[in-house]
Amino acid sequence: MRRVRVIGTGSYVPEKILTNFDLEKMVDTSDEWIVTRTGIKERRIASSEQATSDMVIEASKKALENAGLKAQDIDLIIIATVTPDNLFPSTACWVQRALGIRNIPAFDISAACPGFLYALILAESLILSKKNRRVLVAGAEMLSKITNWEDRNTCVLFGDGAGVVILEESNDESGILSSYWAAEGSLGDLLIQPAGGTRMPATHDTVEKKLHTVHMKGNEVFKHAVKKMGEAALKALSKAGLTGEDIDIFIPHQANIRIIEATCQRLKIPMEKTYINIHKYGNVSAATIPIALDELNREGKLKKGDIILMDSFGAGFTWASMVIRW
Ligand code: ACO
Repeated sequence: MRRVRVIGTGSYVPEKILTNFDLEKMVDTSDEWIVTRTGIKERRIASSEQATSDMVIEASKKALENAGLKAQDIDLIIIATVTPDNLFPSTACWVQRALGIRNIPAFDISAACPGFLYALILAESLILSKKNRRVLVAGAEMLSKITNWEDRNTCVLFGDGAGVVILEESNDESGILSSYWAAEGSLGDLLIQPAGGTRMPATHDTVEKKLHTVHMKGNEVFKHAVKKMGEAALKALSKAGLTGEDIDIFIPHQANIRIIEATCQRLKIPMEKTYINIHKYGNVSAATIPIALDELNREGKLKKGDIILMDSFGAGFTWASMVIRW
């Protein structure tokens, strides 16, 4: 059976660390509340000069090195992000320019936190249909730049970073075994950046009201996240003919430790098999899963043949899951 596999990983997080104790000085919150309600202890924050593509470029160089490839070996760039450098051109085009690759397609996709999994599903089908050979897929977010730093409900949750994988057709049993993706647009208002698009173009008023920042009904999102993360994973597992008990490593989206624990319980995956980095980075939306994958890869924790489950939920709402054999 033809499959697509990951041949290299890379990631980048900004140097600056913002701790819960730093946040205590900015809004009415406490380290204790943030840790018990979310699992987050600190997050990375980009500098004012950095843009999303800068992080992807750093992560891409590491992924290319890890894969033993040159930039010119890549024939498609897909970047999943809801925090692009510009609405246009795409962040993928800036990355293409910086990597010095000419005459290949490059574009962004917007699917919030599961965006990286959406991009993998797309890249898989392009490789299997022989439209492309080697695809660079990134999940990258600079959520600090669309955060309302006066809103304690949201500003404690998010961070910045980028993760990259390089994909090609597999020459053995490794690769993507199954996937599932879905969306429910009728619930879009529960997690939204209201202004800055065509629905509400930027005006003095929208800036004054901070409508260009993340607006979220946290507890509503929480309920849907628990339900859909479980559902997505069960669908992907069943397509692969597996159950949670067959999983060696679970990489869930890192939005809230309580969502992760509830999902593990439903899937019957022990926490020891579940990769957690939310304490270090908070919620990095589409970058979360590829950063985790790269950390596992570089720490030598991925063994040939390991069955890995990835699972995510986010704005849209969107949700997706994928099973791969390493
Ligand atoms: N510090 C102290 N108190 C706070 C803080 C804070 N940082 N934030 C909220 N509170 C208060 C609230 O004001 C509220 O007080 P009240 O009862 O006096 O009104 C109380 O804590 C409880 O608030 P809830 O919102 O009900 O708290 P909850 O337990 O739901 O936790 C949280 C909030 C962490 C946001 C949680 O709901 C969550 O994780 N939601 C899901 C987030 C998610 O999955 N996002 C998806 C992807 S994100 C993307 O796509 C970009």
